[in-house]
Amino acid sequence: MTIHVFNNNEIFMVLQQHSLLLSFIAIKLKSLHKMETKIISIVGEKGGVGKTTLNVILASNLHYANSKKVLLLDADNPQYSIYKKRQRELSLLDASTISEMSPYPIERVTAESIQDTILRYYGLVDYIILDLPGSLNVEMVKGLLYVEHVFIPFGHDELEIDSTSNFYFTLKNNFLDNEERVLKSVNLFFNKYKLVRKNKFSLLREQFEKANIPMMHSVVRDRTIYKEQYRNTLYPIPENKEGGQMELKRFFEEVEQVSNQ
Ligand SMILES: Nc1ncnc2c1ncn2[C@@H]1O[C@H](COP(=O)(O)OP(=O)(O)O)[C@@H](O)[C@H]1O
Ligand SMILES: [Mg+2]
Repeated sequence: MTIHVFNNNEIFMVLQQHSLLLSFIAIKLKSLHKMETKIISIVGEKGGVGKTTLNVILASNLHYANSKKVLLLDADNPQYSIYKKRQRELSLLDASTISEMSPYPIERVTAESIQDTILRYYGLVDYIILDLPGSLNVEMVKGLLYVEHVFIPFGHDELEIDSTSNFYFTLKNNFLDNEERVLKSVNLFFNKYKLVRKNKFSLLREQFEKANIPMMHSVVRDRTIYKEQYRNTLYPIPENKEGGQMELKRFFEEVEQVSNQ
């Protein structure tokens, strides 16, 4: 299967085609003030950087540990790995245990169904978290029309640095620098941060700050426990874990702060 990657012109075309839709969404979203819903996404133009892992842990932590109402949208068509993971996790439990847990909903969406799904939940949940594919395809470009705060993970690999800064400027030029758009902030952060490479990461942070690319203060460390235990759709990060400045909970607190600013 070949994946079509959008260039700047094509993104612009999609935005133009959807300008009516966009003002409709903006008006509709504002009129639905039952509850202030934040639409956020950990996203990037690269696979394997931790988007899905962190979107899942974020959703589970907000819902089960912070009592937030959450909707997790799986837009990674056709894999839908989060949706399938939830099905597998539920299949291990009996019905009464599941109803006691009251898990947050996970919905599969396509470029066509995403708007209706968002409108169905808008105003009824605190957070809509969107997991998008790792390339600028039609799902990503359309999905990004609705996202208010974007969080982009990356490491200190040379190629990742280039693709991440390109992605940042694509978002800034097409989605951010326009008053009619929904996007309010783009935030970069280090994932799979290794303490032994602390100096390299600090140097990189300086470079990005010089280039006026906004970096988050918190980092997400490279830890096996994140993928083996914490990445699940039914439980939060254990309560007595993850309290310090360098821990995952600290990162999620910053995500919440940014989303509520
Ligand atoms: N902070 C982390 N520590 C350890 N492993 C991680 C971390 N973040 C992501 N991973 C692992 O990296 C791999 C790719 O992550 P994934 O979330 O699928 O990325 P993406 O959605 O960006 O393609 C997975 O095996 C995942 O468990
Ligand atoms: Mg993914």
